[in-house]
Amino acid sequence: MSTDPPTTLGGVPQIPETVHELTVGQLSARSGAAVSALHFYESKGLISSRRTSGNQRRYTRDALRRVAFVRAAQRVGIPLASIREALAELPEERTPTHEDWARLSAAWRTELDRRITRLSRLRDHLADCIGCGCLSLETCALSNPDDVFGERLTGSRL
Ligand code: FES
Repeated sequence: MSTDPPTTLGGVPQIPETVHELTVGQLSARSGAAVSALHFYESKGLISSRRTSGNQRRYTRDALRRVAFVRAAQRVGIPLASIREALAELPEERTPTHEDWARLSAAWRTELDRRITRLSRLRDHLADCIGCGCLSLETCALSNPDDVFGERLTGSRL
């Protein structure tokens, strides 16, 4: 483990490339995730660590990207189970490459597009819904966020 003093970039602690394993404190400081959150992610199988002889956790550097991915996905409301499934696609036996991450990101594009569409619909109809209160299963963006009846309604009403 390096004893070099920590450097920062934009207030974010930087981990020298020569450091191949991170303590939980380093991972927390670099990723911005609380130590308790990292323990939670580990308990859910989203990241993993090895234990030292003193029973301290050590994370490989790719845990930084994994944590960044988890946090970004959580911010847009992706369930942890889906995040875990996605991360399971990454290779266990080696550090994920840029291509691995690109493949994972591409696989999520459809899901993210679906969420953006759903949120946009909710944004555009929320004021109407608050003033309405009908919670119609057919027309309400709150009750029917995916607009599953949208095509039928559009056709019949038009
Ligand atoms: S509550 Fe009436 S349209 Fe949503």
